[in-house]
Amino acid sequence: MAKTRIQFICQNCGTVHSRWAGKCDACGEWNTLVEEGTTGGIGGGPSALRSPRKGRPVALTTLSGDIEDAPRIATGIAELDRATGGGFVRGSALLVGGDPGIGKSTLLMQAAAALANRGHRVVYVSGEEAVAQVRLRAQRLGAASAPVELAAETNVEDILATIAEGKRPDIVILDSIQTLWTDIAESAPGTVTQVRASAQAIIRYAKSTGAAVVLVGHVTKEGQIAGPRVVEHMVDAVLYFEGEGGHHYRILRTVKNRFGPTDEIGVFEMSDRGLREVANPSELFLGERSAKAPGAAVFAGMEGTRPVLVEIQALVAPSPLGTPRRAIVGWDAARLSMVLAVLEAHCGVRFAQHDVYLNVAGGYRISEPAADLAVAAALVSSLTALALPADCVYFGEISLSGAVRPVAHALQRLKEAEKLGFGQAVMPSAADELSTGIGANAFQPAMLTDLVVRIAGSKRARPEG
Ligand code: TYD
Ligand code: MG
Repeated sequence: MAKTRIQFICQNCGTVHSRWAGKCDACGEWNTLVEEGTTGGIGGGPSALRSPRKGRPVALTTLSGDIEDAPRIATGIAELDRATGGGFVRGSALLVGGDPGIGKSTLLMQAAAALANRGHRVVYVSGEEAVAQVRLRAQRLGAASAPVELAAETNVEDILATIAEGKRPDIVILDSIQTLWTDIAESAPGTVTQVRASAQAIIRYAKSTGAAVVLVGHVTKEGQIAGPRVVEHMVDAVLYFEGEGGHHYRILRTVKNRFGPTDEIGVFEMSDRGLREVANPSELFLGERSAKAPGAAVFAGMEGTRPVLVEIQALVAPSPLGTPRRAIVGWDAARLSMVLAVLEAHCGVRFAQHDVYLNVAGGYRISEPAADLAVAAALVSSLTALALPADCVYFGEISLSGAVRPVAHALQRLKEAEKLGFGQAVMPSAADELSTGIGANAFQPAMLTDLVVRIAGSKRARPEG
């Protein structure tokens, strides 16, 4: 009989420590070490409990063979299907992460209802809410009549026994992984050990039966799924449901997908009757633009395979402070410093006496370096108080030498801009022919200075200026 050892497991990253400490050396988080039994943690597992048994041979098989039914289950909610890469995959596990209250349960209830209405067997297990609460939400969503099978339960063994009855479910939704607990682990629900052991049991069920399993996981404010961070590598796909406080739209972002593309997004809007699909996100992020306002530039961005146009707003104002303020919403602070430095060093544009505020409209977040050129244009426009043309889009990366560097998907960006009624573009010189109308007469500066000169020169060109 093995001696039971006490271990301390970091609830953030899952590292096992032999003694307690205030800070985890692996991930640097404070107060995350919790005492747990030896059944979990890295290197632990259910086998640590039982005496070793003799292995049983399993049947080996071939790569080609019959697959019972279509491997994908499409929901018909286009934005969700886009993010999953064409629908839920049979025999796979998917994790949907997001902040509490962002709308994960709403999204999955809508997906469950859509699938059930298409004739699939859908089981929705809620560990967080009572049956009455889930029914209330379903009523609000107008989904109460959908033949979804519902249970409020948290024990994994009970859940697996329940869904083993009758026809195999096509899809099982477990809301949330933090509330689940299994008999084989001794820790409290929500701890790394429980979350890992429960997820393992559920994923094993998915692989062995061919049902698609969706796990819901809450995220801490650091942006990591609390505890279930350890689940991320176990599941086949991870989707994050994101949104900015105060804005109604939500983005479903793929961060891992063994069966499809990552970097895809689905865009939704939260209404009083659930989530509504937003088929054309550019319209949402462009907002109302007035032609005369300086400091606004439209960036032609990409999200995965989808072009998205976003308005970038800059405000440059004389600063009363010794160290001028730099405030940024929706973009990288280091990247802004870089663009400002390049403008100062290579283009003779001075910001040292000015506060700089940068905002991405609609609360959207840009991660692409291709936004450099649009940011630079917005900054120069605000500083000089010269409005940029309202029908112009900008994209391109800026290097430290002040050169404008090419970015991928130029044609797709231009096509989206043309579709939305834009007539001009400022972009890097492209290697291949651009067949679109605005691509043909686009302004293609080799250096950032060329763009600065063009913006500053627009004053003289204008008759009333
Ligand atoms: P919920 O799906 O419960 O979030 P999560 O499961 O991620 O914690 O969504 C909760 C929020 O969404 C809540 O603040 C109310 C809002 N909501 C609507 O605005 N409209 C709706 O139709 C529904 C169902 C919820
Ligand atoms: Mg919920």
